[in-house]
Amino acid sequence: MSVDIDVVNWRMEEADETIVLTLDVAGQRANALSSTVLEEFDRILGQIESRPLQGLVIRSAKVNGFIVGADVNEFQKIVDSTQAAALARAGQTVFNRLAGLPFPSVALIHGNCLGGGLELALACTYRIAREDEATRLGLPEVRLGIHPGFAGSVRLPPLIGDLAALDLMLTGRTVSARQAFALGLVDETVPERHLLNAAHAFIARHPHRRRATWWKRAPSWPFLRQPVFRLLQRQLHKKANPDHYPAPYRVLDLWRRAASQEEEALSLGELLVGRTSRNLVSIFLLGEELKRNGRRNPHGIAHLHVIGAGTMGADIAIWAAFKGFRVSLQDQQPEALARTVKKAYGFYRKKLKKPVAIQNAMDRLMPDAGGNGLRRADLVIEAIVENADVKRGLFRTIESIVRPGALLATNTSSIPLEVLGEALKDPSRLVGLHFFNPVAQMQLVEIVRGKQTSDSALERARAFTVAIERLPLDVRSSPGFLVNRVLMPYLIEAMTLAQEGIPIEQIDQAATRFGMPMGPVLLADTVGLDICLSVAEMLSGPLGISVPDRLREAVERGDLGKKSGRGFYVFDRSGRPRHRAVRGHTDTPVIERLILRMLNEAAACLREGVVDDPDSVDVGMVFGTGFAPYLGGPMRYAEALGEVGIASSLRRLAQEYGPRFEPDEAWARSDLLTHHTVPRS
Ligand code: NAI
Repeated sequence: MSVDIDVVNWRMEEADETIVLTLDVAGQRANALSSTVLEEFDRILGQIESRPLQGLVIRSAKVNGFIVGADVNEFQKIVDSTQAAALARAGQTVFNRLAGLPFPSVALIHGNCLGGGLELALACTYRIAREDEATRLGLPEVRLGIHPGFAGSVRLPPLIGDLAALDLMLTGRTVSARQAFALGLVDETVPERHLLNAAHAFIARHPHRRRATWWKRAPSWPFLRQPVFRLLQRQLHKKANPDHYPAPYRVLDLWRRAASQEEEALSLGELLVGRTSRNLVSIFLLGEELKRNGRRNPHGIAHLHVIGAGTMGADIAIWAAFKGFRVSLQDQQPEALARTVKKAYGFYRKKLKKPVAIQNAMDRLMPDAGGNGLRRADLVIEAIVENADVKRGLFRTIESIVRPGALLATNTSSIPLEVLGEALKDPSRLVGLHFFNPVAQMQLVEIVRGKQTSDSALERARAFTVAIERLPLDVRSSPGFLVNRVLMPYLIEAMTLAQEGIPIEQIDQAATRFGMPMGPVLLADTVGLDICLSVAEMLSGPLGISVPDRLREAVERGDLGKKSGRGFYVFDRSGRPRHRAVRGHTDTPVIERLILRMLNEAAACLREGVVDDPDSVDVGMVFGTGFAPYLGGPMRYAEALGEVGIASSLRRLAQEYGPRFEPDEAWARSDLLTHHTVPRS
């Protein structure tokens, strides 16, 4: 029997004195806890709490999961910490009402149960999860620069123990249903078809709630709490700079103080309006925007054919088969195919664990030396040697073989699409799908538009990229596209600094202290100095980048970086660079030169229309290179520094070090640099 109540996001049914409440947020793919959803939930609880019921079941109608967390879009509208704390307090009040019901409540969890969603589940008497790999539970708030705010930090330790709770909150990692059961986070895991019955059984039996055993709670004993805190804080210092990422330190501090819900809300309020969270939230929303953009149209791709099983082609094929696509992989060298199959097996075993799932993924990936898959493919991605003539020859040959509706893509990192398109009768079907190395880790894919590329080719390319869970960023076909072009002056400047005699360790440490995931010299060694040299040479003509002698000489000697054991660094057998200790340095002049060259190039890209707006630069550089996420990307950082200040610093550097620092004319045109797609607070 359905029960009448004036809400739009919840559905309420009642049978045998048990209410089944289904969340189905109107007009959205996933359930997020907006203020409206919480307010409706509160009204429902108000209506049922005084009734003589047996129990309450809470579940989601969305295919992809339970609840993904609080509604992040609302974060951007918050003006101050008082308002932010009030938002947390409001959520706590509703969840306390849920926890205080006079009858048992059960959360039925499938798919994503994250952040505020898990906090809602924690306020229930019991939690039952669907037992499959798609079910993921976690508190990923630190990734947005905040911590739980709906009493999660208070409810979790008594349930699963202090160290396990801190681990989940500090890392933001998610766990599967099986792992959640082992942790004590859920009471039972069952297949889909038993979910509702299991909930009714729990309500009927009404067993004691799960609680952490005494030894799992031992770290919270007064005489252990302080030493455990100090130990964890020391470990944290190795991973995150508190000035850049304060949230995990707040999590630890709340735990050390055995903080109340009110203290949790106040702390969250401060974090939510701080620089780091504002920037991380904006980058997150920009990533979501790219996904939405890609989902607008169907890709119509079931079979992918990849040509070239080298570094990139192999990884693209392995990844696409992992994400459910049928993939044939062609290479002129049979050994390359054999290597890929071996690599795929290792990758799937690590990721999928279950033999059936591994076997299915292996079955989807077909080595295809003869290129038989070409005839059946809906999408062909070419990842052969970076040579325009060879690539053109390949496209000429395959155009007569592929189906009329097949989409053609190139992974080229430097050849203009127009040049490759010359080989085709119909160049409108050619698009660039520029992946980054390693494919499994780098989320970005540049969707390269040549002059002749059709809109429908671009739409399909974007949709395919989202379907393999990567982020599609539109870029115009021009030398280096966006990411390599903006990165290269930064890498070259690092090599120039090294050439001037500054220790490479000092250069890299300055960059990592600034917030880069890896220093530029080590990054160049890791990418491969031969690749750096070829990209630098390709950009040297159009952009006037001069290639440092040290780079050229290293490549001539065969010192290619990590892969040859020696580049700027010397690498040990396990691939770790040997560092020399550096002392007595200041980071500022080094960082200023490195970052301003990057910002200047980014401004040039905007002026030339390589990407549409500063947000695209930011999302591209954060997801394509790991540019300091707490700063929100290069253009947001530029905004914080101020355009006038940047231009005058560049002029000063130009006088000292030469014309490569001349400020781009875009700095004088603030309309180019401050247009944002996602509203900024
Ligand atoms: P690679 O040299 O590792 O692999 C190329 C593979 O293609 C080799 O296995 C070769 O046997 C095969 N091949 C060459 N000609 C062929 C043909 N006509 N038919 C079939 N197979 C053929 O090269 P890598 O690094 O994977 O680069 C491939 C493409 O991806 C290039 O266009 C490159 O610019 C681009 N790229 C490379 C990145 C990197 O970090 N290596 C990053 C992004 C793009």
